[in-house]
Amino acid sequence: MTVPTTPPELARWRADTPGCERLVHLNNAGAALMPAAAHQAIAAHLQLEAELGGYEAADARSDALLQVYVALARLLGAEARNVALTQNSTLAFAQALSALDPGPGDLLLTSQADYASNQIMYLSLARRRGVEIVRAPDAPEGGIDPEALHAMVARRRPALVALTWVPTNSGLVQPVEAVGEICRDAGVPYLVDACQVAGQMPVDISRLHCDYLAGTSRKFLRGPRGIGFLYVSDGALAAGAHPLLIDMHGATWSDPDAFTLTPDARRFESWENAYALILGLGASARYALDVGLDTARDRSFALASYTRERLAQLPGVRVLDRGPELCAIVTAELAGRPASELKLALRAQGINTSSPEREDAVIDMDRKGAASALRLSPHYYNTVEEIDRAVEAIGGWLRGA
Ligand SMILES: Cc1ncc(COP(=O)(O)O)c(C=O)c1O
Repeated sequence: MTVPTTPPELARWRADTPGCERLVHLNNAGAALMPAAAHQAIAAHLQLEAELGGYEAADARSDALLQVYVALARLLGAEARNVALTQNSTLAFAQALSALDPGPGDLLLTSQADYASNQIMYLSLARRRGVEIVRAPDAPEGGIDPEALHAMVARRRPALVALTWVPTNSGLVQPVEAVGEICRDAGVPYLVDACQVAGQMPVDISRLHCDYLAGTSRKFLRGPRGIGFLYVSDGALAAGAHPLLIDMHGATWSDPDAFTLTPDARRFESWENAYALILGLGASARYALDVGLDTARDRSFALASYTRERLAQLPGVRVLDRGPELCAIVTAELAGRPASELKLALRAQGINTSSPEREDAVIDMDRKGAASALRLSPHYYNTVEEIDRAVEAIGGWLRGA
């Protein structure tokens, strides 16, 4: 068993994370603990709104608000003009889908493992707009099979390809770059859900060849709840792409029967925004850049791999993660017992985890023969001792202790 070593920065990361003092937080794929800098940015802006008024406070912090786009762009390897802020990742994804606007007879090509809300959106497009939904097959080792997808793209000419980079209910990392190359070569629009990726590992948008990429603040990026973002490529902007239901922030009502698009990705935003949360997201993005995304990936992946090895030693526990590359999300089935009960028992001991159910990933869970799973998602600020404590508590619960 490879036990991850303790990096010299760990004490500082934990000192910057007040929630670590009392909790073993292994639910970073749900919502991570915020660093103090993010919390302070939010609290300071709420205070300013109380003192100045909401509109006046936003004006007073206009430079800081612009810097949020700059920080997110750095995180993605993009430019600030390509970043839109949205209320969450789901909405960012929906805005992109509405801009891509698949219609009757169009083919939307996706994966077996795409996130549940995305799958529901695809099915809604099928029901309401007559879009054909096809899921490319998985490779034997797990994850979408790029060769099979390549053949389907060549044969069926999809209107778009949509792929969840890290589906929420397992450690699977989809080959987004290989799929991006296939889409680029075929000239097929490509939409990526990077909700679980932002803050967990580096993103280099130039290697993805995607038109849109959706993300959220509260997960591995460690920002507040209720805020997300969308990357929109220069190509999509230049082609005049915009969400179907665009408002007076995304466009200007220039004549009685005409509107003019906002030039940059902000045409995908709404007029009204939670500016305190935006500033909190900016602080968390800067914190992530300061820690380093390579560091975040290497440490969180190593802690997850250690977690898998320890869990696999517990009688009755079946680790469910499959795929050529596994990330910082660990899932395990517990001898048929409901994971939600264990999650609550752990929470009572100050250990935070989560418990995806079948409906969170119908295809994947059915294939694995699991009705529910316990999900542990460590981040770089977690420790080996915390994992040991969680595994021992799980073992105790299984033994009926
Ligand atoms: C892969 C993935 N995509 C999208 C989402 C939805 O994100 P949000 O709740 O910010 O809309 C989640 C949430 O768990 C997710 O795991």
